Amino acid sequence: MANIIIVGTQWGDEGKGKIVDCLTEKSNVVARYQGGHNAGHTVVIGGDKFILHLIPSGILHKDKMCIIGNGVVVDPLALITEIDELKARGISVTGNLKVSKNAHLIMPYHVLLDGWKELKKGSKKIGTTGRGIGPCYTDKASRAGIKMLDLFWPGQFKEKLNTNIADINCMLEQIPDVKKLDADEIYNKYISYGKQLEPYVDDTDITIDEAIKSGKNVLFEGAQGTLLDVDHGTYPYVTSSSATAGGAMTGLGVGPKTIDEVYGVAKAYTTRVGEGPFPSELTDSTGESLREKGAEYGATTGRARRCGWLDFVVLRHAVRVNGLTGLIITKLDILDDMEKIKVCVGYKFRDALLRDFPKELPVLEGCTPVYEELDGWRGSSTAGVRSYDKLPQKAKDYIGVIEKTLGVPVVIVSTGQDRDDIIYR
Ligand code: GDP
Ligand code: IMO
Ligand code: MG
Repeated sequence: MANIIIVGTQWGDEGKGKIVDCLTEKSNVVARYQGGHNAGHTVVIGGDKFILHLIPSGILHKDKMCIIGNGVVVDPLALITEIDELKARGISVTGNLKVSKNAHLIMPYHVLLDGWKELKKGSKKIGTTGRGIGPCYTDKASRAGIKMLDLFWPGQFKEKLNTNIADINCMLEQIPDVKKLDADEIYNKYISYGKQLEPYVDDTDITIDEAIKSGKNVLFEGAQGTLLDVDHGTYPYVTSSSATAGGAMTGLGVGPKTIDEVYGVAKAYTTRVGEGPFPSELTDSTGESLREKGAEYGATTGRARRCGWLDFVVLRHAVRVNGLTGLIITKLDILDDMEKIKVCVGYKFRDALLRDFPKELPVLEGCTPVYEELDGWRGSSTAGVRSYDKLPQKAKDYIGVIEKTLGVPVVIVSTGQDRDDIIYR
């Protein structure tokens, strides 16, 4: 198989985890390139459910190399916990899980700052996962970050940590009822995390390069989605990393010529968790029924996901900024009961009809969706269908409209939670 990037085309939770798990069968290496344990990727195998946050969704296959790249921000305790949970369920991570030395670490003060900043924003809050993601990437960009490798250079680690803690404690003085941080306590904890993670720490850029040179193929796993990307998303209502395909290059240290295909994962409708604009959102009973049928509750925070119709303005943007060569449509089965299905073909802003996703937040917030209505396939089910020919004709028509509108082939259709509920075309 080729070297493929799997990227979310909407606001995350498109079913990337399931798709990465399925495509791992034909890959040798699975590599995560950004985000952190804000991600929640659900994989279901024969009824057994696994939720992965930091570890690539390929880990459930034996003998596949799984890499956490330099672009990922790692909370060491979250990683240790995830490793332990997998081990307890009989999943081997020894020898096949590698974490980049260059990955930045989420520190306790990042989590505090995440919460504090959200609180200060009040009604303008982003609705973060509270995992410290934004403050960690902030420190990385401002050159105050602490990397995985620092845990193995105690002197250097202590110096960096002391500097950061002194700054943070100055700030914490202004927050009532918050205790100052104890640098020594954090130092000791993190040194102990380092000891536990040492067997996994690696020069992952070199490992991937060697794998590719020896003819192995890599599946690049994106977290979040295009509209949550720090550059191409609905800023500031985004996450703090490059979730789009470009992030795979910097987040793992590979060149663009390595990539053969870029597949965008899209739900057959749209969801978003957290605050921020969502033009095709349904706040009525149709939205409610999508949420209930699709079990649209966050895998990381348990929050209800906002639901709406498929949005071609969003998807056109995702096709362009990721250079998609294929689309993967998930959760087609959730539309089974719909008599009519709407698709958003443009946005109306004042007197203008917009076809391209607007960059200005006030424009985006003032847009109303323009819909086209399609026939549903109520009465015949797509749930668990495993061959394209067996899909109801109207469901095939829906896939056809997606392909025609976006000019990109739909290469995979997912028809259920389970690993086997999938159609390869
Ligand atoms: P990710 O973050 O992109 O990996 O997506 P999540 O795992 O957070 O959310 C997708 C949810 O939909 C998970 O609960 C999956 O098990 C589930 N899922 C994925 N594909 C399908 C599908 O085709 N049909 C149904 N019914 N559920 C699916
Ligand atoms: P996966 O990989 C959906 C959202 C949060 C919030 C915004 C910023 O499972 O698709 P952060 O904690 O990253 O600073 O929060 O991004 N968000 C996600 N939404 N799926 C995710 O990951 C997400 N990761 C972050 O809800 O709106
Ligand atoms: Mg998710």
